[in-house]
Amino acid sequence: MRVKLAAGNWKMNGTGNDLAEARKIAFASPAPRSEVLICPPATLLTRMADSVMGSPLRLGGQDCHAEPAGAHTGDISAPMLADAGATHVIVGHSERRSDHGETDAMVRAKARAAHAAGLVAIICIGETEAERDAGRTLDVIRAQLAGSIPEGAGAANTVIAYEPVWAIGSGRTPAPAEIAEVHGTIRAAIVGAVADPGAVRILYGGSVKPGNAAEIFAIADVDGALVGGASLKAADFGAIIAALDAA
Ligand code: PGA
Repeated sequence: MRVKLAAGNWKMNGTGNDLAEARKIAFASPAPRSEVLICPPATLLTRMADSVMGSPLRLGGQDCHAEPAGAHTGDISAPMLADAGATHVIVGHSERRSDHGETDAMVRAKARAAHAAGLVAIICIGETEAERDAGRTLDVIRAQLAGSIPEGAGAANTVIAYEPVWAIGSGRTPAPAEIAEVHGTIRAAIVGAVADPGAVRILYGGSVKPGNAAEIFAIADVDGALVGGASLKAADFGAIIAALDAA
């Protein structure tokens, strides 16, 4: 059985005032059965780690550099994230791929760096709207997986997040059958690339909200969600976590 995972991606949102939202999630009672993760901006990691200490909430970074240290102004390394209290890091988010030109090879190097630092890498993949319209979704997914997963990956250190680019922040989501098709394709495509393909968690991401979470979590091979906007408020994220627990 795969432990379900609700991961919140705060993106470039959040200051000290928002730590209270994380605390509400961290100390929710009863504690959720699903694993819960928040990836705040790096500026909040240490403070959030302090303020949720003793809770089951896990924290992650939103990106890391492929090198552990060096002359890379403005970048943050995987060992630094671990030192700040992170257990996970998102790599290859579509906003990184588009805003910073990250390629599959760079994503793989970042995932490798995450593993070397003892972090779980959440590797993001997903097609653009043009790729879906052209009927290329499954080819794009397979190519991104082949290019982004490093050697040594397995369920203990890797999570895959399927995030259709056109669904992120748009309020639109694929039909359940479309999500099922992609998640099934991912499950088949990681055979050979990871040690234990049946145990790797595959998250769906892109406009997951309290109102559509139950429907999405009922889909085969959906092991949780990567949630952006709806993870910023404890009331919304808490409702999504409850839907995951109930699935
Ligand atoms: P969204 O973002 O939930 O706001 O669509 C998801 C993501 O980009 O991880």
